[in-house]
Amino acid sequence: MKVVRGKKALVSGAASGIGRAIALRLAAEGVHLFLIDVDDAGLAQAAIEASVGGVEVITRHCDLSERHDISATVFEVLERWGGVDILVNNAGITYFGKTDHMAAEHWDRLLQINLLAHVQMTRELLPSLLERPDGHVLNVCSILGLVGMPMVTAYCTSKFAMVGFSESLRSEFGRQGLGVTALCPGFVNTKLFTSAPLEGEASEHKVPPQSITTTPERVAEAALRAIYRNRRMVVMGPFARFLHGIKWLAPWLLDAVFHRGRRKCIARKEKEAAAEVARHRISSPSCDCPGSSVPLALNELPRISA
Ligand SMILES: NC(=O)c1ccc[n+]([C@@H]2O[C@H](COP(=O)([O-])OP(=O)(O)OC[C@H]3O[C@@H](n4cnc5c(N)ncnc54)[C@H](O)[C@@H]3O)[C@@H](O)[C@H]2O)c1
Repeated sequence: MKVVRGKKALVSGAASGIGRAIALRLAAEGVHLFLIDVDDAGLAQAAIEASVGGVEVITRHCDLSERHDISATVFEVLERWGGVDILVNNAGITYFGKTDHMAAEHWDRLLQINLLAHVQMTRELLPSLLERPDGHVLNVCSILGLVGMPMVTAYCTSKFAMVGFSESLRSEFGRQGLGVTALCPGFVNTKLFTSAPLEGEASEHKVPPQSITTTPERVAEAALRAIYRNRRMVVMGPFARFLHGIKWLAPWLLDAVFHRGRRKCIARKEKEAAAEVARHRISSPSCDCPGSSVPLALNELPRISA
């Protein structure tokens, strides 16, 4: 997009962090804003700061976990502006904890807000974006959409999907003038981590060390450059570049790290299972009667495949 001044943008999750910083940066470039979030107080504050430069700023409470709220928001955007030139799909939540401990409702909520809401928003605004000579969709993904990590499986799932969505959308509509960017920051200093639900017994949130985080303002600067230059993907921040570099140079390395101690673990589990069967045979001798479902000998134990 050569010129952004006077253009119209919708930014989701604009009440805080990266979304707020992108909104303020766009406002400074003269872009009119339609800001949405569930945090009304934060949204009002962002709107006050964004409108200082004289651009039009509209705010709307929109809960991205509600499909009808997304459609109602799109309806309002189309009624008031007839569409947008820039769509920033930014709102997101996270969850840190073991995949099998994460409740089904948390999985559903995370995938709805981080992925399905953005797909729906884009789909419903797409006709108006394509009417523009050079509309742009900026998807705030993450380095965790390029490199899988433990304890954040749901988050990674949503972000890998957003990277795929961005790439596919770009290839489908690039010839028609639509720009699409997958913005993949590393750790950013926002409230994303502290607003996540606590897993099980955990009493405090895991927050990344300051030394490897970047600021929302830097991410916003990169976002603006990406819109101007129609960048396909932007990997930014020291942590993100490091991880991305490792995965590119030696894709096997991280995999090897996450498999350290695997053989020992399998051997221990097999030993425990064998001991359990032996205990069972001693405590219930009747189990070797015909038709019993308990294995009779150690060599009948199910093997745990490597
Ligand atoms: N902070 C990081 O380290 C980091 C790194 C890479 C990517 N990201 C991504 O950046 C995006 C913004 O996150 P952030 O770090 O600025 O966190 P943040 O918590 O400061 O901002 C997220 C915003 O989304 C809003 N939101 C949450 N649920 C919503 C819902 N149901 N409907 C509407 N709005 C909702 C929140 O109110 C908040 O204003 C997210 O997609 C996140 O995954 C963050």
